[in-house]
Amino acid sequence: MELIAKRPRGTDDVIPAEAYKWHTVEKLARETAEQYGFKEIRFPTFENTKLFKRSVGDTTDVVQKEMYSVTAKSSANGNDDTEYTLRPEGTAGTVRAVLENGLLNDALPLKAYYIISCFRHEKPQKGRLREFHQFGAEMFGSKSPCADADMISLAKSLIERIGLKDIELYINSIGCPTCRAEYQKALKAYFEESKDKLCHTCLERLEKNPMRILDCKSEICSKIGKNAPVIIDYLCDDCKNHFEKLKETLSVMGIEYKINPKIVRGLDYYTKTVFEFVTTSIGAQGTVCGGGRYDGLVEQLGGNPTPALGFAMGLERLILTMESQKCDFISAKKCDLYIAAMGENALKKTISLTNTLRDEGYCVEYDVMDRGLKAQMKYADKIGAAFTIVLGDNEIESNSARLKNMKTGEQYEIAFDDKFIDKFSDIVVSDMFGEILDKI
Ligand code: HAM
Repeated sequence: MELIAKRPRGTDDVIPAEAYKWHTVEKLARETAEQYGFKEIRFPTFENTKLFKRSVGDTTDVVQKEMYSVTAKSSANGNDDTEYTLRPEGTAGTVRAVLENGLLNDALPLKAYYIISCFRHEKPQKGRLREFHQFGAEMFGSKSPCADADMISLAKSLIERIGLKDIELYINSIGCPTCRAEYQKALKAYFEESKDKLCHTCLERLEKNPMRILDCKSEICSKIGKNAPVIIDYLCDDCKNHFEKLKETLSVMGIEYKINPKIVRGLDYYTKTVFEFVTTSIGAQGTVCGGGRYDGLVEQLGGNPTPALGFAMGLERLILTMESQKCDFISAKKCDLYIAAMGENALKKTISLTNTLRDEGYCVEYDVMDRGLKAQMKYADKIGAAFTIVLGDNEIESNSARLKNMKTGEQYEIAFDDKFIDKFSDIVVSDMFGEILDKI
């Protein structure tokens, strides 16, 4: 087969047989977020490029190298020459939507979560895609370290619910603009010594934002950055205090953590607390969750000064880890009943039975391929139908048929009268109980 075009590099298809894995994570993510008081927010897949430049930061890899941006053709859009970018992450869009809809005038803290696709032009590898998906949560209005601990607790709770093991939590503080100024000076002095070895982008960063050199993906820059000064040694009293209180609260919550002074995160908006949950089960791209505080971002994007914080988890990485750790997924809905029809009259009866049972919530299928009986039964077996009915002229005449349990082979005579639904339900429910009892 010669396809005219293949899937773009760094993107993935989710085929129907695998979708239940996504549904498992999405369902548990929604349930956990809602238990912590978060409600869903939805916002556009693309935004004005300015939004990402201002929030994620001009000197980050995301903005400098990884954004998918377009300027729409003027004939189609009435001379709108604005540049738009496919969202590389969800925080900027959330803050923009929160401000544009005046949500900070309501009760605080405001808590919002999202499940979104994101786009970054990165070098694809296992766990690193160009189109990927995030579950994220953002909280606005609290400057208390309790909020930081609550966010970490939400992420941890989801990780536990989906059954992941061996995930480490790393925390750090990257201070505020006050302490960061001293730190940037120390960093600049450190990197000046290896100036001739830095990559072209990092040379520019040395002048504008030396902290960004620390998350450069180039091998040489990462090597040079290994012995660089760490921000935690430069924290002001307020940031130090905040970090101490966070550690205390995590201990009260019984959440284990390690301090990793090297975490700086790859986005510019962070202040004070940053954190990551990391697994070793899926290779190099093991960070399944990253987040932190961004107390200056709301004001930077045009709102009143409002402390805020959040995190996002990569859904592909969560699913890869679940697969590698053989975690349980919620199984997809299976076919309750397949009705095999032979002949025109039987088909009419089949369609009417199917509609009645579907209205009652059952998953019912019948032949739409004009197949013979043998092929229909083969299909019923393939899709794992729990029960089957064969309908032919005899069954139409007697107004009844045999319901067959495909696993046990047991058969039940069942009449198509006003007790049909009740009888069908009794048989299906007792079969379900039987299966549960077998498992115990
Ligand atoms: P981030 O660390 O850039 O943070 O991304 C969050 C998570 O998304 C990562 O930990 C990873 O699991 C996943 N991820 C990132 N890039 C890729 C990729 N190319 N392929 C697959 N998965 C990926 C943010 O995006 C922040 N907005 C998080 C945040 C929310 N901070 C505060 N609020």
